[in-house]
Amino acid sequence: MKVIWNDQIVDRTEVKIDLEDRGYQFADGIYDVVRAYNGKFFTLDEHIDRFFSGMSKIDLEAPFTKAELKERLAELLNVNKVDTGNVYFQITRGIASPRDHVFPEPTVVPPVFTASTTVVPRNEEKMSKGITAAVVPDTRWLHCDIKSISLLGNIMAKHTAHKKGFDEAILHRDGIVTECSSSNMWMVKDGTIYTHPDGNLILPGITKIVLLRAAAKAGIPVIEKEFTLEQLKEADEAFSSSTTIEAMPIVEIDGTAVGTGERGPVVEMLQQFYIKEIE
Ligand code: PDD
Repeated sequence: MKVIWNDQIVDRTEVKIDLEDRGYQFADGIYDVVRAYNGKFFTLDEHIDRFFSGMSKIDLEAPFTKAELKERLAELLNVNKVDTGNVYFQITRGIASPRDHVFPEPTVVPPVFTASTTVVPRNEEKMSKGITAAVVPDTRWLHCDIKSISLLGNIMAKHTAHKKGFDEAILHRDGIVTECSSSNMWMVKDGTIYTHPDGNLILPGITKIVLLRAAAKAGIPVIEKEFTLEQLKEADEAFSSSTTIEAMPIVEIDGTAVGTGERGPVVEMLQQFYIKEIE
């Protein structure tokens, strides 16, 4: 498999990550995941914009333009002959020795960029059956809008849910639902969709943008407003969204069925809109 390593496309085995790479030592970096359908990227511009915005939020100077990055990722997709799959890309603040918490001078220490692909078909069965989730306290930091490669808080939450036998973790801060461990969170009540507003407590999802557009087209009202665990318990439908899972019904929370316990009509409608978008 070929990967991108800085400005080259090389075999995966050729990549050397230094033990003093700040990504490795401090999780000092930004990542993104973009999906391709039928050999073409979906919402690539939005992912690239968020990647650049993340870099700027942590004062990391991009070593390429948006156009150059897009071209490089497209080349990788092509070289690896990915039809439907994901491209993971990340940038770290580079190799700075000796280890020092202070950011190194960007003119002295160039960032390290890597990207790889995986072939992942759409899991239609899962999208129709839905997943289960556990409610877990959101103990992450206060910059959740930054797609940081430091995902310890997220993976600890997911692990907690998995240990109890659930697929996903629904995160909450003092009873307010924020998002899931690796996706945005939504609920439906009396025909209206609710989701947490963007800000520093959640990641501004690209799939969220697509679903907001879908809901507007379908004439389903959406309120981007905080909702509580109590409101979630009374919801008719719940679902989460991300690049890799699209709109995923959550049919059971902490062992209790959501609504009918099956995929609801609102999320099904959003899924159908999504399919039209990616065709
Ligand atoms: N996760 N919230 C969190 C915490 C996420 O990690 C993600 C994405 C999302 C949804 O964002 P988007 O719709 O742009 O994929 C929300 C990616 C897929 C991941 O970490 O693999």
